Amino acid sequence: MRIILIGPMGSGKSSIGKILARQIDLKFIDTDKLIEIQEGIKIKEIFSTKGENYFRDLEVMVLKKTLKVQSGVIATGGGIIEREANRLLLKKERNVFFLNSSVRRQFERTKDSDKRPLLNKGNNLKTLQELFDKRLRYYEDTSKYQIEMDNKTNEEIIEQIIKNT
Ligand code: S3P
Repeated sequence: MRIILIGPMGSGKSSIGKILARQIDLKFIDTDKLIEIQEGIKIKEIFSTKGENYFRDLEVMVLKKTLKVQSGVIATGGGIIEREANRLLLKKERNVFFLNSSVRRQFERTKDSDKRPLLNKGNNLKTLQELFDKRLRYYEDTSKYQIEMDNKTNEEIIEQIIKNT
């Protein structure tokens, strides 16, 4: 079985994904991590040396490969839905969950991290809002279920995911 988590930076894809995977005894897979392993450098360095477009190409390759062979809980990067190729791949999947989070919560959950190349370039709240405005329809369109993340415990979120798979 495959459960795929999509949603903005700081929505909780990795943290929920890890707990969920452990709980239902599936492997946890993170597409950003796979890209870092494949390239041998961090996402931030990929953006700064090769550019965002190169990173988006890698995301398509890694998602394609992952969906072909893997079962597991798969956490994706917040921009995975930017490329149409990825949206088409995800639409064919059964268990794609959109972890929907307010921009304020995204902001709070990303503010102490310096790992995200799209952030810390000015006003993070504004950047997150703009990305969310641009991407929301893709998250909605690409997912089978939407989970509201604000004001919920991890247990409640996980229960809702399991119930809908
Ligand atoms: C990105 C989100 C990041 C990472 C990269 C780009 C985005 O993943 O893939 O920094 O475009 O929103 P997280 O959603 O895990 O932070």
